[in-house]
Amino acid sequence: MHKPKVFVTRVIPDGGLDLVRQACDADVWQEELPPTRLVLLERVRGVDGLLCLLTDPVDAELMDAAGQQLRVVSNFAVGYDNVDLRAATARGIPVGNTPGVLTETTADLAFALIMAAARRLVEGAGYVRAGLWRTWGPMLLLGHDVHGATLGIVGLGRIGQALARRAAGFSMKVIYYDPYCDGEKGVDQGAAVRCTLDELLAESDFVSLHVPLSAATHHLIDASALSKMKRTAVLVNTSRGPVVDSDALYEALTSGQISYAALDVTEPEPLPAGHKLLTLPNCLVVPHIASASWATRTRMAVMAAENLLAGLRGERLPNCVNPEVYEP
Ligand code: DGY
Repeated sequence: MHKPKVFVTRVIPDGGLDLVRQACDADVWQEELPPTRLVLLERVRGVDGLLCLLTDPVDAELMDAAGQQLRVVSNFAVGYDNVDLRAATARGIPVGNTPGVLTETTADLAFALIMAAARRLVEGAGYVRAGLWRTWGPMLLLGHDVHGATLGIVGLGRIGQALARRAAGFSMKVIYYDPYCDGEKGVDQGAAVRCTLDELLAESDFVSLHVPLSAATHHLIDASALSKMKRTAVLVNTSRGPVVDSDALYEALTSGQISYAALDVTEPEPLPAGHKLLTLPNCLVVPHIASASWATRTRMAVMAAENLLAGLRGERLPNCVNPEVYEP
């Protein structure tokens, strides 16, 4: 029987990859690094479906290189800023993503970054490994309390709300700014109180970012935003790197405008070894691992496979980010 041809741009967990391999003639990119642009353009030629990652720019040129038989793009991520949705919709190609399954895991990491920053975990571990731990010290590695502090959540979507639930368990005061949320300013969303971005920046001890990347959120946290934060504040980013202006962040961290940044995502990404942010003792960077638990990545793989296979069968994707493709 003729199987649809698909390109899978990286090895994903078995639960999803097995589904794809059973139903498709699957070309799976085996390297650790993503296919280069040239390779991508070459490997998509003639495919019916593409299962791609946030590291693969999927634009009009790529879809045209694939050809007119391309009938689904399935992104192995909840974010889909790497896909030109307008170009996909114009070609009638549904685009799938993986919402929901990574919410709690991502919020776990955001909270871990808050804790690590406040209680100087990385410095503490480095201090011990360096053989510097000689006694209990009354002034040694003093940090800030998380309990009772004010957490400002920028973007109260699924992940922002999951973070707010964690914060409630630590008796934090939670405020949020969300341009897409209808509630009035000062009105509670659960235990979180809505405010303007300027109010959030001025009042928060921890500012955690949970907005998708778009033209409106690109460099949302720039020099001006950073200048409104407390000098003791910590910035946490598990959304997308370009939501923060890296140069402005470097200046704010070196001048003492804010005290610490804990970043899962960066601009550029990956951050090259030796990048100026990596020279700072008050900047913690981890390599975009917020959704990286075995269970969650397996669920994401299954969801991405289900989107791909539905699209190949001509069915509506279970999770489609451009549902307008189904409108007559
Ligand atoms: C996403 O899904 O958008 C994350 O950044 C990676 O899991």
